[in-house]
Amino acid sequence: MGSNYPAATSRSAELHDRGKSVIPDGVSRSTVIIRPHPIYVDHAQGAWVTDVDGNRYLDCNNNFTSIILGHADPKIESAVRKQLASGTAFSMATESEIQLAELLCDRVASCEQIRFCNSGTEAVMGAIKAARAFTERPAIIKVEGSYHGTYDHAEASLGSDPSNWGLPNRPMTIPYASGAPGSLTDEVVIVQFNDTKGMSEAIQRVGPRLAAVLLDPMPSRVGMPTLDPLFVEAIRNETRAVGALLILDEVISLRLGPGGAQAIHNIDPDLTAMAKIIGGGFPVGAIGGKSQVMDVFAAVHGNRAAVPSGGTYTANPITMTAGFACMSQLDQSSFDRLADIGMQIRGGLTDLFATLSLGWHVTGAGSLFRIHPHQRLINSYRDAHLDSDETALMELLQRRLLEHEVYFSSYGMGCMNLATSDSDIEHFHKAMNKALTAISS
Ligand SMILES: Cc1ncc(COP(=O)(O)O)c(C=O)c1O
Repeated sequence: MGSNYPAATSRSAELHDRGKSVIPDGVSRSTVIIRPHPIYVDHAQGAWVTDVDGNRYLDCNNNFTSIILGHADPKIESAVRKQLASGTAFSMATESEIQLAELLCDRVASCEQIRFCNSGTEAVMGAIKAARAFTERPAIIKVEGSYHGTYDHAEASLGSDPSNWGLPNRPMTIPYASGAPGSLTDEVVIVQFNDTKGMSEAIQRVGPRLAAVLLDPMPSRVGMPTLDPLFVEAIRNETRAVGALLILDEVISLRLGPGGAQAIHNIDPDLTAMAKIIGGGFPVGAIGGKSQVMDVFAAVHGNRAAVPSGGTYTANPITMTAGFACMSQLDQSSFDRLADIGMQIRGGLTDLFATLSLGWHVTGAGSLFRIHPHQRLINSYRDAHLDSDETALMELLQRRLLEHEVYFSSYGMGCMNLATSDSDIEHFHKAMNKALTAISS
């Protein structure tokens, strides 16, 4: 068995041609584009996705880390069906948002209160706006290459490259989207991941203008490096010293354990951005934090809130119900199994790279992993940044894996769900062996 992707006469190719006339690029998410055309899904179950041409793939992406139990989870399905029959969106509140907020406040230690929104992008943007309102300061510090969604300030220096990234201890602030406001370069200061000295200097330098440091504890585009405890300790102590906040972006890292990465690394952020798994497969975002800071979202004595927030579909009962049905099924043993799946995946890859004398390596934790087609140790974005040959190699790897029924990102990031069985892991390693052998011969 194998997939016939890409086939010029396939239904996916036909849909892409049709889509292109009404949607730029044919799809609304540039992240689903693969060459020569995206794969259009028919259905998915557990760890596997079936496309409109009947090809099956072991899902090693899981909608960019948002599916955790497995596709079409029966308990989420039945909870959502029940809510569907009672209506999907109202201009009034529902108990479902309280239920999910209670669960998250109970598990994520630094979150005393939660406000929901519709995506991780919105959650990060809302957290930045909250930090600005709370401190009455404009600037943020973020890590070079770190992805936090598509808000202009949060995506600064996401795509830096050797031609523009500047000195290691003073990285340049490079707007990501063309036409982003020039003021952004004054308001966003860039530091390299795990550069404790550079971070301390930046916090001191920006101090009186600094609203917050925005940090993802295991940023995927930075290569999933291991967080240096001294780096995060410096951020926490020095933000407090200058009266700035720490925003932890746990949009992905909440997958690592019941209390997220903050429980694992003993981090006490002021605000936490969440999304992905907390929606149980539906569009979601949430900002959580200390009540004192979260107060900026509250309208006190009838006055407008410091940071007004609404959103037509915010906290809609379908998402809230699905999120609760998902999160309430996850206990410590679920996270232990996810970690075991990840360990097997990473261990098998390490063995394979050695057997094939490739000089590649893998980073990651829990159910997450990132493959590096080189020997550079990963401490920051500059180590993980792929040159054009390496980029081409990873795209080739993705193509060969598709032929062997594995769906995997083109930049080396992988994520497994809880429905992944030991035989699925074996399938992954066999496919990887064939794909790597093909591209290295
Ligand atoms: C760390 C991180 N933050 C924020 C986001 C943005 O989330 P969303 O795609 O829901 O807007 C992502 C998305 O991949 C992410 O990985």
